[in-house]
Amino acid sequence: MSWRIDPYSDARLPALAVWWNEAFRGMRNYWPVGPEALRTRIIERRTAVESFDPSGLLLAVDGDRVVGAIHAGIQPESVSRALDPAWEGGTRGWVALLCVLPGWRRRGVGGALWDRARACLAGCREVFVDGQGLGPYYGNSDGPATPFFGTPEGLSLPAEDGVTRAFLERRGHRPQALGRTYEKLLCVGPSEAARARESTPLPAAAPTGDTDAGSGMSPNATLGKGAEPGAVPRVSANATVGKGAEPGAVPRVSANATVGKGAEPGAVPGSARPNAAGGAEFALVTGFLPELGRPIAEGGIFRPAHPFVAAIAVGDGVTVGLAAAYEMTELGRGHWGVYQLVVEEAWQGQGLGRMLLARALAEATARGGRSCEALTLPERSPGAARLYEAAGFAAVAEWAVY
Ligand SMILES: CC(C)(COP(=O)(O)OP(=O)(O)OC[C@H]1O[C@@H](n2cnc3c(N)ncnc32)[C@H](O)[C@@H]1OP(=O)(O)O)[C@@H](O)C(=O)NCCC(=O)NCCS
Repeated sequence: MSWRIDPYSDARLPALAVWWNEAFRGMRNYWPVGPEALRTRIIERRTAVESFDPSGLLLAVDGDRVVGAIHAGIQPESVSRALDPAWEGGTRGWVALLCVLPGWRRRGVGGALWDRARACLAGCREVFVDGQGLGPYYGNSDGPATPFFGTPEGLSLPAEDGVTRAFLERRGHRPQALGRTYEKLLCVGPSEAARARESTPLPAAAPTGDTDAGSGMSPNATLGKGAEPGAVPRVSANATVGKGAEPGAVPRVSANATVGKGAEPGAVPGSARPNAAGGAEFALVTGFLPELGRPIAEGGIFRPAHPFVAAIAVGDGVTVGLAAAYEMTELGRGHWGVYQLVVEEAWQGQGLGRMLLARALAEATARGGRSCEALTLPERSPGAARLYEAAGFAAVAEWAVY
């Protein structure tokens, strides 16, 4: 046996990047990752409640090479409670990033990494395989940002990877759901894009670009309740989302919310026009991600660092529907992802989801988008799958979502 397992140390960072690129090059939405990206997104990542612990990032090394890795961590109890109001207490461990280079497989490396990771999590009441990007490192848990690879929501296992599924099943973990990536080409000319933007009701004074430019709100406006940088997260939109409207029903915790410069709470112009969809008003928001079911004037608790656009529907001052989309800029090809598509249950069935999606796609197109993808959990949200298909999206990949 020429390999051994070491916890991460900074001296291994370049070798970790080499391993990363070798391990994930074939994955959907892979982008080449250098040491700096790993440093920023993992090693130096801090949130209000979580910070990187090198003892949980375990590397299988063979000489100077990293040949496998796994990342284990403990989800703070506050986050577990926010994700699951019925959470009884105690800690919850997560495992992510498990991969062994093909040339080193079936030699016991993966099993040894798994055992070491589980030893780090001894005492946790529950351990889950984080395929949904619930941890702060691999998905876009604090708002739209290109995940390292995989889906627009996070990093997951390709459904066809039976070997890894079997490996995890032998260790007591089964996929929670089947995920499906839908994709649509946004190959419309400027005039068609303009028509699409007109096809959904626009508030009379709604800015079509960044809300900062047109909302008249001060960038320094005081943030509303729930918007403090260190606030314990509420489970957001997905908790109240019902059938047919959400892309992934994957709960995201906003634990990592960082309140950025220029985030304004009230980006919806007061002149928004009611329309046929049950009296909801529409607007575009870019400074923050509104929270479904909360008064729009409160702002959202996400202040994503990456540009995104959210088409929102507001009823009685409360955000009742939302479709956020963002450019997956690291892929460098005008490729966008729908990050959320949610409509409050009471507002469903009136075409809001369809209109919000159309608005978000039109805006993505106007901003140079050439293609857009979205993640759905079709068994849990058949309506969402139908909505995407009706909007011209085609299924392009399937995932075992743990
Ligand atoms: C799942 C994965 C990590 C397993 O890695 P591995 O190093 O092959 O794992 P192991 O060798 O420890 O175990 C695999 C199987 O090989 C066999 N095996 C283990 N040691 C062996 C040996 N010395 N000789 C022959 N067979 C052996 C065993 O059947 C073992 O199964 P079991 O321990 O579950 O009974 C690997 O297949 C992988 O990297 N898959 C891709 C994961 C991925 O895409 N991740 C990205 C999303 S996070």
